[in-house]
Amino acid sequence: MAEKKRILSGMRPTGPLHLGNWHGALANWVKMQDKYDCFFFIADWHALTSDYEKPGSISGYIYDMITDWLSVGLSPEKSTLFIQSHIKEHAELFLLLSMITPVPWLERNPTYKDQIVELGNKDLSTFGFLGYPVLQAADIIIYKPFGVPVGIDQVPHVEITREIARRFNYLYGDLFPEPEAILTQTPKMLGIDRRKMSKSYDNAIYLSDSPDDIFNKVSRMITDPQRARKSDPGDPDVCNVFDFHKIYTEKETIDNIDKECRSAKIGCVECKKNMAQNLIKSLEPVREKREYYKARPELVEYKISNGIQKARKVARQTMEEVRSALKI
Ligand code: TRP
Ligand code: SF4
Repeated sequence: MAEKKRILSGMRPTGPLHLGNWHGALANWVKMQDKYDCFFFIADWHALTSDYEKPGSISGYIYDMITDWLSVGLSPEKSTLFIQSHIKEHAELFLLLSMITPVPWLERNPTYKDQIVELGNKDLSTFGFLGYPVLQAADIIIYKPFGVPVGIDQVPHVEITREIARRFNYLYGDLFPEPEAILTQTPKMLGIDRRKMSKSYDNAIYLSDSPDDIFNKVSRMITDPQRARKSDPGDPDVCNVFDFHKIYTEKETIDNIDKECRSAKIGCVECKKNMAQNLIKSLEPVREKREYYKARPELVEYKISNGIQKARKVARQTMEEVRSALKI
């Protein structure tokens, strides 16, 4: 059998995982495990670029995140799962890449400009924050993947990674393949207030939420904003609850709701209850696994330790090649 092609992606441990993370990224990673040689890691150094003032909370989030990953079906038997800060080689490559990365490439990065505005309450005028994409480039190319599954917001970072790899190859000889961003279709899913689901907006439903939490949050979800009363016909096409139904509810029921909403036969309260039940049911196996792993931190530690060793081996090998290309 031909060797599987390698992909790699990372996630910053900035809080507990929510449904947006699950359906937007993780579900996709889980599917890719059979097709590719997958490297997935927790980007804890990257979390520090914006949260350097409260490093304490990051370590807790790391273990929560691994637990969530295992619970949704990422498997250390199939994939290489690891933690960035355990592989010091990323930092060495970051340093060397920083020598050859022109500052204007970083300053014109749209994600950089957006984040400075969006996270206006934090002082992000640091060297580390500007250099974020260089660290990300090091994370990626050190494993020489052909592709990087990411959301659309990360595409500029993958683009800078390609430019840095190209520049390295030009200066020191061909060593790094230029990785592609792999964009996958993901279902539409907004927070309960119809903005992007995000921890910082306080509008997210978490994998760790109890059934009661979920009922409560779903009951507060904004539906078709034009529909004030049950007797008004609704429009499922603009309703966030309906988008959730598309993920958690059977096709036949969805078709019914579509009709009954438009003809004002079903009310939003009932419709939400129905959706919340299906959502809770689909989270049930995740919740069970989560509890299992939560109670066994040593097992979680063990599961990640193999991945760390495997990643380290690959990273060390690449760094030998890098040092030799640079004659150091
Ligand atoms: N910047 C990514 C994010 O915020 C996280 C990340 C760090 C990453 N290093 C990476 C993603 C390498 C893909 C590949 O989501
Ligand atoms: Fe949305 Fe359901 Fe209300 Fe229609 S009945 S507006 S689909 S919540």
